Amino acid sequence: MARQKQASGSGKTVKKSQSFKMADTIEEFTNELGNAGPAKVDNETYWGAVRAQFPYNGSIRYTNNGTIGILPHMVLQAQIATLKEAEIQDGDTGGVTYPGPHEAHEKLAALINADPSEVAVTRNSTESMNIIALGLDLKPEDEILTTTHEHYGGWSCWQNRNALFGNPIRKLDLYDPPEDEDEIVGLIEEAIRPETRVLSFCHVTCTTAWRLPVRKICAMARKRGLITVIDGAQSVGMIAVDVNDLNCDFYVSSTHKWLFTPKGTGLLYVKEAAQEHIGLGYYTHGGQLTARRFENHATQSYAPLVGFAVAVDFHNAIGTPLIEDRGAAMAKWLKTRLSDIPGVRVWTPMSRNLSASMVSFSIAGMTSSDVGTPLRERYRIHSRGLHEGGYHGARISCAMHNSYDEMEQVVSAIGEIAANRC
Ligand SMILES: Cc1ncc(COP(=O)(O)O)c(C=O)c1O
Repeated sequence: MARQKQASGSGKTVKKSQSFKMADTIEEFTNELGNAGPAKVDNETYWGAVRAQFPYNGSIRYTNNGTIGILPHMVLQAQIATLKEAEIQDGDTGGVTYPGPHEAHEKLAALINADPSEVAVTRNSTESMNIIALGLDLKPEDEILTTTHEHYGGWSCWQNRNALFGNPIRKLDLYDPPEDEDEIVGLIEEAIRPETRVLSFCHVTCTTAWRLPVRKICAMARKRGLITVIDGAQSVGMIAVDVNDLNCDFYVSSTHKWLFTPKGTGLLYVKEAAQEHIGLGYYTHGGQLTARRFENHATQSYAPLVGFAVAVDFHNAIGTPLIEDRGAAMAKWLKTRLSDIPGVRVWTPMSRNLSASMVSFSIAGMTSSDVGTPLRERYRIHSRGLHEGGYHGARISCAMHNSYDEMEQVVSAIGEIAANRC
Protein backbone atom coordinates (compact mmCIF):
# COMPACT_ATOMS: atom_id res chain seq x y z
CA MET A 1 0.00 0.00 0.00
CA ALA A 2 1.70 3.19 -1.16
CA ARG A 3 1.21 6.46 0.69
CA GLN A 4 2.07 9.96 -0.40
CA LYS A 5 4.17 11.96 2.05
CA GLN A 6 3.24 15.48 3.09
CA ALA A 7 5.55 18.44 3.33
CA SER A 8 6.18 19.59 6.89
CA GLY A 9 5.80 23.25 7.93
CA SER A 10 8.66 23.07 10.45
CA GLY A 11 11.44 23.21 7.90
CA LYS A 12 11.86 19.46 8.40
CA THR A 13 10.50 17.91 5.22
CA VAL A 14 9.78 14.53 3.72
CA LYS A 15 10.53 14.44 -0.02
CA LYS A 16 7.10 15.06 -1.60
CA SER A 17 7.62 12.59 -4.41
CA GLN A 18 8.63 9.70 -2.18
CA SER A 19 6.06 7.15 -1.15
CA PHE A 20 6.54 4.07 0.96
CA LYS A 21 5.07 0.63 1.09
CA MET A 22 3.32 -0.65 4.18
CA ALA A 23 5.53 -3.65 4.78
CA ASP A 24 4.24 -7.14 5.54
CA THR A 25 7.60 -8.46 6.70
CA ILE A 26 10.71 -7.20 8.47
CA GLU A 27 12.69 -7.74 5.25
CA GLU A 28 10.30 -5.48 3.33
CA PHE A 29 10.43 -2.92 6.13
CA THR A 30 14.22 -2.94 6.15
CA ASN A 31 14.15 -2.40 2.36
CA GLU A 32 11.81 0.55 2.73
CA LEU A 33 14.08 2.06 5.36
CA GLY A 34 17.06 1.48 3.06
CA ASN A 35 15.23 3.40 0.28
CA ALA A 36 14.63 6.32 2.64
CA GLY A 37 18.26 7.36 3.00
CA PRO A 38 20.45 7.46 6.10
CA ALA A 39 19.06 6.19 9.40
CA LYS A 40 19.39 9.54 11.14
CA VAL A 41 17.38 11.50 13.67
CA ASP A 42 16.83 14.40 11.27
CA ASN A 43 16.16 12.46 8.06
CA GLU A 44 12.42 13.14 7.76
CA THR A 45 12.20 10.85 4.75
CA TYR A 46 13.41 7.95 6.90
CA TRP A 47 10.79 8.77 9.53
CA GLY A 48 8.21 9.06 6.77
CA ALA A 49 9.00 5.43 5.90
CA VAL A 50 8.48 4.52 9.57
CA ARG A 51 5.19 6.45 9.73
CA ALA A 52 3.97 4.65 6.60
CA GLN A 53 3.95 1.41 8.62
CA PHE A 54 1.16 2.66 10.87
CA PRO A 55 -2.23 2.21 9.22
CA TYR A 56 -4.00 5.09 10.93
CA ASN A 57 -5.15 7.76 8.52
CA GLY A 58 -4.00 10.81 10.46
CA SER A 59 -7.39 12.59 10.56
CA ILE A 60 -6.77 12.89 14.29
CA ARG A 61 -3.35 14.11 15.37
CA TYR A 62 -2.48 11.18 17.60
CA THR A 63 -0.03 12.57 20.12
CA ASN A 64 -1.05 10.40 23.04
CA ASN A 65 1.11 7.33 22.55
CA GLY A 66 1.86 7.53 26.29
CA THR A 67 -1.67 6.35 27.01
CA ILE A 68 -1.96 3.72 24.33
CA GLY A 69 0.18 2.82 21.33
CA ILE A 70 -1.14 2.18 17.85
CA LEU A 71 -0.14 -0.95 16.00
CA PRO A 72 2.22 -1.12 13.05
CA HIS A 73 0.58 -2.92 10.12
CA MET A 74 2.79 -5.99 10.42
CA VAL A 75 2.03 -6.46 14.13
CA LEU A 76 -1.69 -6.26 13.41
CA GLN A 77 -1.40 -8.65 10.45
CA ALA A 78 0.58 -11.17 12.47
CA GLN A 79 -2.22 -11.31 15.01
CA ILE A 80 -4.97 -11.54 12.41
CA ALA A 81 -3.15 -14.35 10.57
CA THR A 82 -2.59 -16.24 13.83
CA LEU A 83 -6.23 -15.87 14.82
CA LYS A 84 -7.42 -17.03 11.42
CA GLU A 85 -5.10 -19.99 11.55
CA ALA A 86 -6.41 -21.00 14.97
CA GLU A 87 -10.07 -20.19 14.55
CA ILE A 88 -10.81 -21.24 11.00
CA GLN A 89 -7.78 -23.43 10.34
CA ASP A 90 -6.81 -21.09 7.55
CA GLY A 91 -3.11 -21.69 7.18
CA ASP A 92 -2.71 -19.11 4.44
CA THR A 93 -0.59 -16.26 5.75
CA GLY A 94 0.14 -14.89 2.30
CA GLY A 95 3.61 -16.34 2.32
CA VAL A 96 4.70 -14.54 5.50
CA THR A 97 6.40 -16.62 8.17
CA TYR A 98 5.76 -15.27 11.65
CA PRO A 99 7.84 -15.95 14.77
CA GLY A 100 6.47 -18.57 17.15
CA PRO A 101 4.77 -17.38 20.37
CA HIS A 102 7.65 -18.79 22.46
CA GLU A 103 10.02 -16.26 20.82
CA ALA A 104 8.35 -13.29 22.52
CA HIS A 105 10.09 -13.92 25.85
CA GLU A 106 13.56 -14.32 24.41
CA LYS A 107 13.24 -11.24 22.25
CA LEU A 108 11.87 -9.17 25.14
CA ALA A 109 14.53 -10.45 27.54
CA ALA A 110 17.29 -9.59 25.05
CA LEU A 111 15.85 -6.09 24.57
CA ILE A 112 16.00 -5.28 28.29
CA ASN A 113 19.15 -7.34 29.03
CA ALA A 114 17.42 -9.87 31.29
CA ASP A 115 17.51 -13.63 31.36
CA PRO A 116 14.35 -15.11 29.77
CA SER A 117 13.61 -16.84 33.08
CA GLU A 118 13.33 -13.39 34.72
CA VAL A 119 10.67 -12.22 32.28
CA ALA A 120 6.92 -12.80 32.27
CA VAL A 121 4.58 -11.45 29.61
CA THR A 122 1.61 -10.15 31.55
CA ARG A 123 -1.28 -8.03 30.30
CA ASN A 124 0.04 -4.61 31.33
CA SER A 125 1.87 -2.63 34.03
CA THR A 126 -1.16 -2.59 36.28
CA GLU A 127 -1.35 -6.38 36.31
CA SER A 128 2.40 -6.69 36.92
CA MET A 129 2.25 -4.17 39.77
CA ASN A 130 -0.61 -6.10 41.38
CA ILE A 131 1.33 -9.35 41.17
CA ILE A 132 4.25 -7.71 42.97
CA ALA A 133 2.17 -5.85 45.56
CA LEU A 134 0.15 -8.91 46.52
CA GLY A 135 2.99 -11.40 46.32
CA LEU A 136 5.82 -9.63 48.16
CA ASP A 137 6.85 -11.32 51.34
CA LEU A 138 6.56 -8.43 53.83
CA LYS A 139 5.77 -8.03 57.50
CA PRO A 140 2.55 -6.02 58.11
CA GLU A 141 4.57 -3.11 59.50
CA ASP A 142 6.89 -2.88 56.46
CA GLU A 143 6.32 0.45 54.75
CA ILE A 144 6.01 1.13 51.01
CA LEU A 145 7.53 4.45 49.97
CA THR A 146 6.30 5.84 46.68
CA THR A 147 5.78 9.28 45.12
CA THR A 148 3.02 11.71 44.18
CA HIS A 149 3.76 11.06 40.50
CA GLU A 150 2.47 7.50 40.35
CA HIS A 151 -0.24 6.50 37.92
CA TYR A 152 -3.30 4.86 39.44
CA GLY A 153 -2.03 1.61 37.89
CA GLY A 154 1.19 1.97 39.87
CA TRP A 155 -0.15 2.70 43.35
CA SER A 156 -3.71 1.38 43.71
CA CYS A 157 -2.10 -2.06 44.11
CA TRP A 158 -0.31 -0.74 47.20
CA GLN A 159 -3.59 0.61 48.54
CA ASN A 160 -4.98 -2.89 48.17
CA ARG A 161 -1.91 -4.29 49.96
CA ASN A 162 -2.58 -1.83 52.74
CA ALA A 163 -6.26 -2.86 52.95
CA LEU A 164 -5.46 -6.59 52.96
CA PHE A 165 -2.28 -6.77 55.04
CA GLY A 166 -1.97 -3.38 56.71
CA ASN A 167 1.35 -2.29 55.14
CA PRO A 168 1.60 1.50 55.46
CA ILE A 169 2.13 3.49 52.24
CA ARG A 170 3.75 6.91 52.14
CA LYS A 171 3.98 9.21 49.13
CA LEU A 172 6.97 11.49 48.77
CA ASP A 173 5.81 14.83 47.33
CA LEU A 174 7.99 15.44 44.28
CA TYR A 175 6.16 18.48 42.92
CA ASP A 176 8.57 20.48 40.74
CA PRO A 177 11.69 18.53 41.80
CA PRO A 178 15.27 19.81 41.45
CA GLU A 179 16.83 19.34 38.01
CA ASP A 180 19.80 17.46 39.39
CA GLU A 181 20.04 13.68 39.56
CA ASP A 182 21.95 13.56 42.83
CA GLU A 183 19.57 15.98 44.51
CA ILE A 184 16.64 13.79 43.49
CA VAL A 185 18.38 10.72 44.91
CA GLY A 186 19.07 12.73 48.08
CA LEU A 187 15.39 13.69 48.45
CA ILE A 188 14.33 10.06 48.19
CA GLU A 189 17.04 8.91 50.58
CA GLU A 190 15.99 11.52 53.15
CA ALA A 191 12.41 10.22 52.96
CA ILE A 192 13.43 6.67 53.93
CA ARG A 193 12.51 5.66 57.48
CA PRO A 194 13.59 2.61 59.51
CA GLU A 195 10.27 0.92 58.68
CA THR A 196 10.58 1.52 54.90
CA ARG A 197 11.05 -1.75 53.06
CA VAL A 198 9.89 -1.10 49.48
CA LEU A 199 10.64 1.79 47.15
CA SER A 200 8.17 1.98 44.25
CA PHE A 201 8.50 4.69 41.59
CA CYS A 202 8.36 5.45 37.86
CA HIS A 203 11.18 5.36 35.35
CA VAL A 204 9.49 8.05 33.24
CA THR A 205 6.65 9.78 35.10
CA CYS A 206 3.21 9.89 33.49
CA THR A 207 2.69 13.39 34.90
CA THR A 208 5.61 15.65 34.06
CA ALA A 209 7.44 13.13 31.84
CA TRP A 210 10.53 13.26 34.05
CA ARG A 211 13.03 10.47 33.58
CA LEU A 212 14.17 9.58 37.08
CA PRO A 213 17.78 8.49 37.71
CA VAL A 214 16.76 4.88 38.32
CA ARG A 215 20.26 3.41 38.42
CA LYS A 216 21.42 5.84 41.12
CA ILE A 217 18.21 5.50 43.12
CA CYS A 218 18.44 1.68 43.02
CA ALA A 219 22.11 1.75 44.08
CA MET A 220 21.18 3.91 47.07
CA ALA A 221 18.18 1.71 47.88
CA ARG A 222 20.27 -1.45 47.71
CA LYS A 223 22.72 -0.02 50.27
CA ARG A 224 19.71 0.67 52.51
CA GLY A 225 18.41 -2.89 52.06
CA LEU A 226 15.22 -1.84 50.23
CA ILE A 227 13.29 -3.74 47.57
CA THR A 228 12.96 -1.66 44.39
CA VAL A 229 9.90 -1.75 42.14
CA ILE A 230 10.13 0.32 38.96
CA ASP A 231 7.06 1.30 36.98
CA GLY A 232 8.43 1.48 33.44
CA ALA A 233 5.04 1.74 31.74
CA GLN A 234 6.43 4.72 29.82
CA SER A 235 9.90 3.48 29.05
CA VAL A 236 10.38 0.10 27.31
CA GLY A 237 10.47 0.94 23.59
CA MET A 238 10.85 4.67 24.25
CA ILE A 239 14.31 4.65 25.83
CA ALA A 240 17.02 2.08 26.43
CA VAL A 241 16.16 -0.10 29.41
CA ASP A 242 18.89 -2.39 30.75
CA VAL A 243 17.49 -3.98 33.90
CA ASN A 244 20.84 -5.53 34.75
CA ASP A 245 22.50 -2.14 34.73
CA LEU A 246 19.61 -0.49 36.60
CA ASN A 247 19.98 -3.26 39.21
CA CYS A 248 16.36 -3.07 40.33
CA ASP A 249 14.45 -6.00 41.84
CA PHE A 250 11.24 -5.62 39.84
CA TYR A 251 10.48 -3.74 36.63
CA VAL A 252 7.11 -3.53 34.92
CA SER A 253 6.04 -2.08 31.60
CA SER A 254 3.02 -1.55 29.38
CA THR A 255 4.80 -2.56 26.20
CA HIS A 256 1.61 -1.87 24.27
CA LYS A 257 2.58 1.80 24.50
CA TRP A 258 6.09 2.47 23.20
CA LEU A 259 7.08 -0.99 21.99
CA PHE A 260 3.85 -1.24 19.96
CA THR A 261 3.05 -4.74 21.15
CA PRO A 262 -0.57 -5.92 21.04
CA LYS A 263 -3.06 -4.49 23.53
CA GLY A 264 -3.21 -6.75 26.55
CA THR A 265 0.52 -7.46 26.63
CA GLY A 266 3.06 -6.11 29.09
CA LEU A 267 6.16 -6.94 31.08
CA LEU A 268 6.92 -8.21 34.56
CA TYR A 269 10.65 -8.53 35.24
CA VAL A 270 11.72 -10.25 38.45
CA LYS A 271 15.46 -10.26 39.08
CA GLU A 272 16.63 -13.78 39.78
CA ALA A 273 17.89 -12.85 43.23
CA ALA A 274 14.52 -11.21 44.02
CA GLN A 275 12.48 -14.29 43.19
CA GLU A 276 12.74 -15.40 46.82
CA HIS A 277 10.97 -12.17 47.90
CA ILE A 278 7.79 -13.05 46.09
CA GLY A 279 5.30 -15.81 46.61
CA LEU A 280 1.97 -16.58 45.02
CA GLY A 281 1.68 -16.80 41.23
CA TYR A 282 -0.58 -18.78 38.96
CA TYR A 283 0.29 -22.45 38.90
CA THR A 284 -1.14 -23.26 35.50
CA HIS A 285 1.45 -25.55 34.02
CA GLY A 286 3.31 -27.52 36.58
CA GLY A 287 4.31 -24.62 38.85
CA GLN A 288 7.39 -23.07 37.32
CA LEU A 289 9.63 -21.30 39.81
CA THR A 290 10.89 -18.63 37.44
CA ALA A 291 9.14 -15.34 36.64
CA ARG A 292 7.05 -17.37 34.20
CA ARG A 293 4.94 -18.59 37.11
CA PHE A 294 3.14 -15.24 36.89
CA GLU A 295 1.84 -16.04 33.44
CA ASN A 296 -1.32 -17.91 32.72
CA HIS A 297 -0.22 -20.92 30.67
CA ALA A 298 -3.66 -22.45 30.38
CA THR A 299 -5.56 -22.35 27.09
CA GLN A 300 -5.65 -18.98 25.40
CA SER A 301 -4.92 -17.23 22.10
CA TYR A 302 -1.34 -17.21 20.82
CA ALA A 303 -2.04 -14.22 18.62
CA PRO A 304 -0.84 -11.54 21.10
CA LEU A 305 2.46 -13.36 21.70
CA VAL A 306 3.11 -13.78 17.97
CA GLY A 307 2.32 -10.08 17.52
CA PHE A 308 4.61 -9.32 20.46
CA ALA A 309 7.58 -11.06 18.82
CA VAL A 310 6.93 -9.19 15.56
CA ALA A 311 6.74 -5.88 17.45
CA VAL A 312 10.18 -6.44 18.99
CA ASP A 313 11.58 -7.24 15.53
CA PHE A 314 9.96 -4.07 14.19
CA HIS A 315 11.55 -2.04 16.99
CA ASN A 316 14.95 -3.64 16.42
CA ALA A 317 14.81 -2.93 12.66
CA ILE A 318 15.13 0.76 13.62
CA GLY A 319 17.06 0.25 16.84
CA THR A 320 16.63 1.59 20.37
CA PRO A 321 19.35 4.31 20.21
CA LEU A 322 17.87 5.91 17.08
CA ILE A 323 14.29 5.69 18.41
CA GLU A 324 15.37 7.25 21.71
CA ASP A 325 17.35 10.01 20.00
CA ARG A 326 14.51 10.82 17.62
CA GLY A 327 11.98 11.12 20.46
CA ALA A 328 14.38 13.26 22.51
CA ALA A 329 15.08 15.59 19.57
CA MET A 330 11.40 16.09 18.78
CA ALA A 331 10.54 16.58 22.46
CA LYS A 332 13.33 19.16 22.83
CA TRP A 333 12.02 21.05 19.79
CA LEU A 334 8.51 20.99 21.26
CA LYS A 335 9.68 22.10 24.73
CA THR A 336 11.53 25.03 23.19
CA ARG A 337 8.56 26.12 21.09
CA LEU A 338 6.04 25.75 23.92
CA SER A 339 8.25 27.69 26.33
CA ASP A 340 8.01 30.70 23.99
CA ILE A 341 4.22 30.87 24.32
CA PRO A 342 3.10 33.44 26.94
CA GLY A 343 1.33 31.73 29.85
CA VAL A 344 2.72 28.27 29.10
CA ARG A 345 4.84 26.51 31.70
CA VAL A 346 6.71 23.42 30.51
CA TRP A 347 7.18 20.89 33.31
CA THR A 348 9.44 18.45 31.50
CA PRO A 349 13.14 19.26 31.97
CA MET A 350 15.28 20.27 29.00
CA SER A 351 18.07 18.02 30.26
CA ARG A 352 18.41 14.91 28.14
CA ASN A 353 19.22 12.78 31.20
CA LEU A 354 16.05 13.81 32.99
CA SER A 355 13.62 13.62 30.10
CA ALA A 356 12.57 11.40 27.23
CA SER A 357 9.95 11.48 24.45
CA MET A 358 7.01 13.20 26.13
CA VAL A 359 6.36 16.83 27.04
CA SER A 360 4.04 18.08 29.78
CA PHE A 361 2.94 21.67 30.19
CA SER A 362 0.30 23.81 31.80
CA ILE A 363 -1.35 27.08 30.80
CA ALA A 364 -1.76 29.65 33.57
CA GLY A 365 -5.27 29.67 34.99
CA MET A 366 -6.47 26.65 33.01
CA THR A 367 -7.45 23.19 34.24
CA SER A 368 -6.49 19.98 32.44
CA SER A 369 -9.85 19.83 30.70
CA ASP A 370 -9.67 23.54 29.78
CA VAL A 371 -6.60 22.57 27.77
CA GLY A 372 -7.41 19.02 26.62
CA THR A 373 -11.02 19.57 25.51
CA PRO A 374 -10.36 22.29 22.91
CA LEU A 375 -7.21 20.48 21.81
CA ARG A 376 -9.32 17.41 21.05
CA GLU A 377 -12.58 18.95 19.89
CA ARG A 378 -11.44 22.07 18.03
CA TYR A 379 -8.02 21.03 16.80
CA ARG A 380 -8.43 17.23 16.69
CA ILE A 381 -5.25 16.71 18.69
CA HIS A 382 -5.19 13.88 21.21
CA SER A 383 -3.22 14.61 24.36
CA ARG A 384 -3.32 13.27 27.92
CA GLY A 385 -4.53 15.47 30.76
CA LEU A 386 -2.33 15.92 33.83
CA HIS A 387 -4.21 14.64 36.85
CA GLU A 388 -1.76 13.19 39.34
CA GLY A 389 0.71 15.04 41.56
CA GLY A 390 -1.15 18.35 41.74
CA TYR A 391 -0.52 19.36 38.11
CA HIS A 392 -3.00 20.76 35.59
CA GLY A 393 -2.33 20.75 31.88
CA ALA A 394 -1.58 18.27 29.15
CA ARG A 395 1.06 15.83 27.97
CA ILE A 396 2.10 15.35 24.35
CA SER A 397 3.89 12.23 23.13
CA CYS A 398 6.61 12.36 20.47
CA ALA A 399 6.45 8.80 19.15
CA MET A 400 8.26 7.33 16.17
CA HIS A 401 5.11 7.77 14.03
CA ASN A 402 4.70 11.46 14.86
CA SER A 403 5.93 14.13 12.47
CA TYR A 404 7.14 17.67 12.93
CA ASP A 405 4.14 18.73 10.89
CA GLU A 406 1.91 17.38 13.67
CA MET A 407 4.06 19.07 16.30
CA GLU A 408 3.72 22.40 14.44
CA GLN A 409 -0.04 21.97 14.68
CA VAL A 410 0.25 21.21 18.41
CA VAL A 411 2.26 24.41 18.98
CA SER A 412 -0.13 26.51 16.94
CA ALA A 413 -3.21 25.10 18.75
CA ILE A 414 -1.67 25.61 22.19
CA GLY A 415 -0.68 29.14 21.20
CA GLU A 416 -4.31 29.93 20.32
CA ILE A 417 -5.72 28.27 23.43
CA ALA A 418 -3.26 30.17 25.64
CA ALA A 419 -3.96 33.49 23.88
CA ASN A 420 -7.73 33.09 24.39
CA ARG A 421 -7.69 31.93 28.01
CA CYS A 422 -10.02 33.74 30.37
C1 LIG B 1 3.44 5.33 34.73
C2 LIG B 1 2.25 4.49 34.40
N1 LIG B 1 2.02 3.38 35.14
C3 LIG B 1 0.99 2.57 34.86
C4 LIG B 1 0.14 2.83 33.82
C5 LIG B 1 -0.99 1.90 33.56
O1 LIG B 1 -0.84 1.27 32.33
P1 LIG B 1 -1.73 0.01 31.95
O2 LIG B 1 -3.15 0.48 31.87
O3 LIG B 1 -1.20 -0.42 30.63
O4 LIG B 1 -1.56 -0.99 33.01
C6 LIG B 1 0.33 3.97 33.03
C7 LIG B 1 -0.57 4.28 31.92
O5 LIG B 1 -0.54 5.28 31.28
C8 LIG B 1 1.43 4.81 33.33
O6 LIG B 1 1.69 5.91 32.62
